[in-house]
Amino acid sequence: SSSSFMGYRSPVICIMGHVDTGKTKLLDKIRRTNVQEGEAGGITQQIGATFFPDIALQEQTRKVDEDFDLEVPGVLIIDTPGHESFNNLRMRGSSLADLAILVIDIMHGLEPQTVESLELLKKRRCPFIIALNKIDILYQWNAKQYTSVQEALSRQQQSVRDEFQTRYNNVVLQLNERGLNCNLYWENDDYRSSVSIVPTSALTGEGVPDLLYMILKLTQDLMGDKLEVREKLECTVIEVKNIEGLGTTIDVVLLNGTLKEGDTIVLAGLGGPIVTTIRALLTPQPMKEMRVKNEYVHHAQISTSMGVKISAPGLDDAVAGTELLVVGPDDDLDELKEEVSEGFESILNDFEKEPAGVYVKASTLGSLEALLSFLQDMKIPVFDVGIGEVHKKDVKKACIMKEKKNPEYALILAFDVKVNQEAQKQADTDGVTIFTADIIYHLQDKFTKYMEKYRE
Ligand code: GTP
Ligand code: NA
Ligand code: MG
Repeated sequence: SSSSFMGYRSPVICIMGHVDTGKTKLLDKIRRTNVQEGEAGGITQQIGATFFPDIALQEQTRKVDEDFDLEVPGVLIIDTPGHESFNNLRMRGSSLADLAILVIDIMHGLEPQTVESLELLKKRRCPFIIALNKIDILYQWNAKQYTSVQEALSRQQQSVRDEFQTRYNNVVLQLNERGLNCNLYWENDDYRSSVSIVPTSALTGEGVPDLLYMILKLTQDLMGDKLEVREKLECTVIEVKNIEGLGTTIDVVLLNGTLKEGDTIVLAGLGGPIVTTIRALLTPQPMKEMRVKNEYVHHAQISTSMGVKISAPGLDDAVAGTELLVVGPDDDLDELKEEVSEGFESILNDFEKEPAGVYVKASTLGSLEALLSFLQDMKIPVFDVGIGEVHKKDVKKACIMKEKKNPEYALILAFDVKVNQEAQKQADTDGVTIFTADIIYHLQDKFTKYMEKYRE
């Protein structure tokens, strides 16, 4: 109710798109850093989260609208990889976001992972804007760092503006063909039915002020209620990572509520709920990326809309994509453990188990969900599922299909997980087939070929 209004939290924004469209570079341009050049092969392989405080934002939004009122304390932007193998990470990133930025290279138009991202956003009903990036590549572009895009376009000679218009029209047509209405953001008078396009350059920073302005305007105008600060903890594990000197840590997105050093936390682990104590709460410096090795800032406590690294003992088999709970003075620990297990298992059990079907293993809850929905669409029956590495006991389970006289289903589909040696040995002995892949549709290919062969 309005009587308990505690202000707004920072919106969480996820940046997605095809590989090399300039997602990381755009964030670098906003941060004035250079993460992109430090990445192996220039490819993003993890989710990174950066907090942008209000002062940094105000400076940019003023260039677009002098009178723009900033009501949120900042934004948390999550970078995701565009490489096709990292569908699961895009999924996790987009499921956390209040709003997404879909980046399209103006020279390339729609590409496979652009389309995949569009489908994902539609499925999640996540509102988004489009950054039409790399405008500086237009022939004879006249650049001026960090200017607003309307100013940048009007500065160009006619031939440049013509090329822009032609390429812009092409992209819009491709989007229309996918059933999307869109407009340049300053010509868009209905944000709800038409997607706003912001032309940008991650090289010159032109359009970057506009991008920030639109993120803030849309989240503030369209989702006021959703952004009201709540006391109840909402915290999701996005990465489980080993860090030298800290051991296994988890990166979380803290949407609402407060975490304190010394808090007892409960989260899902592969071998059952993990109960542990927060040893350190760490964030990168503001405007720095969580993935980059900086001096972390230590916090005694931390609240709302932050990417936080938690160091604590016993996090080795924590599961990314699950909720994290804090044990309060009046809480019953067993109840919280149950809640965490239920969240974890409800996804594991929330599908039709068939008496005869394949056995499925995946790396995270998010990727398992994706795989199950995919298998359902393909009408591939599933007998049972699990998270994590393929073990001997999984092979034993899959082997049950032989006794049930469905030997063709004595099969494990393993998505983005390893098969341990013992399991492989057991599979060879028992005649259980294991297909592994990092990309969902590769598993489907393997399965389809296998079934064709089997039926011959
Ligand atoms: P993944 O994370 O691997 O999916 O790629 P990404 O979308 O993060 O793209 P990234 O930031 O790695 O940029 C890819 C390449 O495009 C780099 O060489 C960048 O320097 C270049 N690039 C990105 N944005 C722009 C731009 O606006 N203009 C120009 N000229 N080059 C750009
Ligand atoms: Na890249
Ligand atoms: Mg990147």
